[in-house]
Amino acid sequence: MKLLIDTDPGIDDAMAILFAARHPGIELIGLTTVFGNVSVETATRNALALVEHCGLQIPVAQGAGRPLVLPPFVPPAHIHGAEGFGHRPAPAPQGRAITEDAARFMTRLAREMPGEITLCPVGPITNVAQAIRLDPEFAGNIRRIVLMGGALDAPGNISAHAEANAYHDPDAMDIVLRSGADVTMIGLDVTMRAQMVAGDFEALAGAAPQDGGLLRDMAGLYLDFYASLGQPGCALHDPMAVIACIRPDLFTCEETGLAAITSAAQSGRTVRRAGAAQSRAALDCDAAAIKGLFMDTLARHGA
Ligand code: BDR
Ligand code: CA
Repeated sequence: MKLLIDTDPGIDDAMAILFAARHPGIELIGLTTVFGNVSVETATRNALALVEHCGLQIPVAQGAGRPLVLPPFVPPAHIHGAEGFGHRPAPAPQGRAITEDAARFMTRLAREMPGEITLCPVGPITNVAQAIRLDPEFAGNIRRIVLMGGALDAPGNISAHAEANAYHDPDAMDIVLRSGADVTMIGLDVTMRAQMVAGDFEALAGAAPQDGGLLRDMAGLYLDFYASLGQPGCALHDPMAVIACIRPDLFTCEETGLAAITSAAQSGRTVRRAGAAQSRAALDCDAAAIKGLFMDTLARHGA
């Protein structure tokens, strides 16, 4: 399966990218970057570092540095760290991003390989909205969009109703959800259910020192953040969206039209939209199997 990840790395973004790079059924064909957990420049640097860590030779295209309509956003440092990788120091990759920006890169690839590419956005979805605006055929050329974002029945994680990726660019989220593309929303209804505790990261570091060691070193700050919320472990938000691309059978989805509220107190809330073209939102999942697949995939590769 040809996969393009749109990302703001970010600790769980790094987990998602490592999973995609190591799963034998996934051909990771590129990364595009966006503001969110860190600035877009830092996201690009971190994406390049992860590509090099994985020994991949794939393009990284830099995208939006700010939301479509909302004012620029200053990322907080207490969740993913000032450099995006927890307490780990800033990486210094050798490579550079391609000159094409994220939206142009996405639309070109989708035109070159119509119906073949699965797009997995795991940050604010600004680049994908820009691609939809840039190319009226983009929504039809892309095979599926499986996004991490939103919350349908679950509470938000940044406001009462909004999930962070949707909150940071609600206008982009609404454009993507109404685009007519084949969209699957992997949101907080499921992504808080699969969690990694400190002992899981230790076990992974033992089984796969290269990948597991990197993630263990990143995860301390992320685990501290979740502990401050009373959670025993950190959520597998972004890896779950990648896992939904390759193993949709591990998720139970509701077929429904979707939209995002773009203004006032509920900005960033994702909602059902009656009478719309059908997309789907995950409402349940096999959390144990998802976590097992994540751990086993990295452990098998690192063994
Ligand atoms: C999402 O927000 C970011 O902090 C994570 O990387 C994830 O994509 C979860 O709400
Ligand atoms: Ca993310």
